[in-house]
Amino acid sequence: MNSCAGAVKDANASNRESRIMLELANKRIVLGLTGGIACYKLAEFVRRAGEHGATIDVVMTPAATQFITPVTMQALSGRPVFIDPWDARVPNNMAHINLTRGADAILIAPASTDFMAKLAHGMADDLLSTLCVARGDCPLLIAPAMNREMWLNPATQRNVALLRQDGVQLLGPAEGEQACGEVGSGRMIEPDQILAELIAFFQPKVLEGQRVLITAGPTSERIDPVRVITNRSSGKTGFAIAQAAREAGAEVILISGPTPLPTPYGVTRIPVESARQMHAAVMQHASSSDVFISVAAVADWHVVNRSDQKLKKTAAGGAPQLEFGPNPDILAEVAALQTGPWCVGFAAETENLVEHAEAKRRRKGVPLLVGNLAQHVMDADITELVLFEDAGRTSLTPQPKLQAARALVREIARRLPKTNNT
Ligand code: C5P
Repeated sequence: MNSCAGAVKDANASNRESRIMLELANKRIVLGLTGGIACYKLAEFVRRAGEHGATIDVVMTPAATQFITPVTMQALSGRPVFIDPWDARVPNNMAHINLTRGADAILIAPASTDFMAKLAHGMADDLLSTLCVARGDCPLLIAPAMNREMWLNPATQRNVALLRQDGVQLLGPAEGEQACGEVGSGRMIEPDQILAELIAFFQPKVLEGQRVLITAGPTSERIDPVRVITNRSSGKTGFAIAQAAREAGAEVILISGPTPLPTPYGVTRIPVESARQMHAAVMQHASSSDVFISVAAVADWHVVNRSDQKLKKTAAGGAPQLEFGPNPDILAEVAALQTGPWCVGFAAETENLVEHAEAKRRRKGVPLLVGNLAQHVMDADITELVLFEDAGRTSLTPQPKLQAARALVREIARRLPKTNNT
């Protein structure tokens, strides 16, 4: 059964390779399961992390095997599962050493109250706790999962403080309804959020401590209650930049026009419709931000004579005569603030990219403007960004939007004034 599961996993992996970015390629993760009902959610996590190219060695405490079977975890990871420190399958009988050496991270999920207490005090009385003590400089991430009273218990909180002090990274916990029926803090974050955190963990923290404000998507200007004028924008680039900035350690606020895209994990999203709403939201947060990245395709005009009732096509006068008024230029206004954030603008052009983008950069008064050709980037998953600044022009490699966003975030971090980039 094992070799069959392995073969299926390999076939699936190569089929998917072309469809998704392998965010965890060449990463070996030791996944530790401890006793908690949230164990069942890790089955999904293992499958998804495997799709991203991760090699996962599952280690379970005996209590974890009460909640999900080792067979399930073996089938999904395609690798043997370890529970017993005296496992005779390990030739040198040192599973705690073999598993941790060369691992890129140890992830404990769910992390029970008891296991966190053991970790905090360096106890080593089962395979999982022993390998944590033996891990050397292998990073340790834990996703706590417990009842709210157990989480709030002073002893647990003392252990949390000790673990943080020891450099252990806590993922969550979340607030919400718990398996026991109570509501509060202590819920394990969801498997896709654990995956997002793990992927983020491997990104360089070039924006640690920075507050980044981003606009994304289109704006939508009402003509009447059922009709709007909008700019074409999927929001994909702005959302990818929000994700990349968060992965780089920034606190991110994403002000977005209408788009069905899901909010990247850990990002605060403020939904808006019109350019004037976007302007108001941006101005509320601009002064407290370190960086402003204006990716949104903002409508230049709004309809002055918009109707509160649906315009009828059978109306006596025929087609409506729309009157337009200018919208505020959000980017130019933020760039002109006395103590405003470091500003990055975007320009999607259909022709003469270099001339238009450079002229736009000067007009808006921003140190960096990112240009791309609208016909290449619209709705696409791949983008080619060109950076315009005083020092000249730099083209980044064409790549999927998330990769391009990560590259851009690194370029921005490199350019931030030193006083701002502490
Ligand atoms: O003015 P234009 O649309 O050509 O410039 C594009 C850049 O300016 C983008 O960064 C866009 O988000 C921003 N912009 C803005 N407010 C507007 C129009 C564009 O912030 N009203």
